[in-house]
Amino acid sequence: MIEHIAIIMDGNGRWATARGLSRSEGHLAGAKQISVVADAARAMGIKSLTLYAFSTENWKRPEPEVTALMSLLKEFATNELPQMMKNNVRLRTIGRTGDLPLASRMALLKAIDLTKNNDGLTINIALSYGGRAEIVDAVNKILKERKSDAPMTEEEFRNYLYLPDMPDPDLMIRTGGNLRISNFLLWQLSYAELYVTETYWPDFGADDLRRAIEAFDGRERRFGGLNEQKDGGAVDK
Ligand code: FPP
Repeated sequence: MIEHIAIIMDGNGRWATARGLSRSEGHLAGAKQISVVADAARAMGIKSLTLYAFSTENWKRPEPEVTALMSLLKEFATNELPQMMKNNVRLRTIGRTGDLPLASRMALLKAIDLTKNNDGLTINIALSYGGRAEIVDAVNKILKERKSDAPMTEEEFRNYLYLPDMPDPDLMIRTGGNLRISNFLLWQLSYAELYVTETYWPDFGADDLRRAIEAFDGRERRFGGLNEQKDGGAVDK
């Protein structure tokens, strides 16, 4: 059963260039696509979506593109809020969100607060997010807060990640065709199935999501073990 899908929403720039539009117009089209995919995910019974919207490395992009993305974020949090309330969607963020401009942060905090008791689909947006940064932030939190020097377990380490209660993604989709993880959810993607499509994010719709889920359903997940029927009943170490 698939509950959590993580998505690298890539290809906005190429989508725009192919149409003679600016990269920022590509991001606008990409932002609009989020509600299309969220509606489809809800209809398919998915519990969580984690969307990579802005990486720690994206700050290196030209200033006008960063500004356009930050203002899109504010508009997204403000304009989508009524729809999120209506659809019982909970919004959360992961990343170094303290780096975001105040106006974007305030709009996000309002949406996070107002949607916090919604228990339909959860949308986690990764902002100023890096997988290595998350692990380093967790280590620094441990150095500051942990009283004991007893050996740490994986379960305890998880408590120091941005959203300790976030289940690991079952499936990670990347649009735009690149075969990379790009510093996304390095801890949490350990056993995720990967699905890459050439489709650019602004063109990725309900049918594409269904195809990705069908591909996932056809995979055999063993989490490092063996399949009991196919592999003779043994389970490896
Ligand atoms: C990658 O496309 C996409 C991004 C860096 C930003 C993703 C942002 C959105 C989908 C919209 C804004 C999000 C919210 C939450 C309002 P790219 O620019 O790297 O595309 P390219 O690889 O074709 O150049």
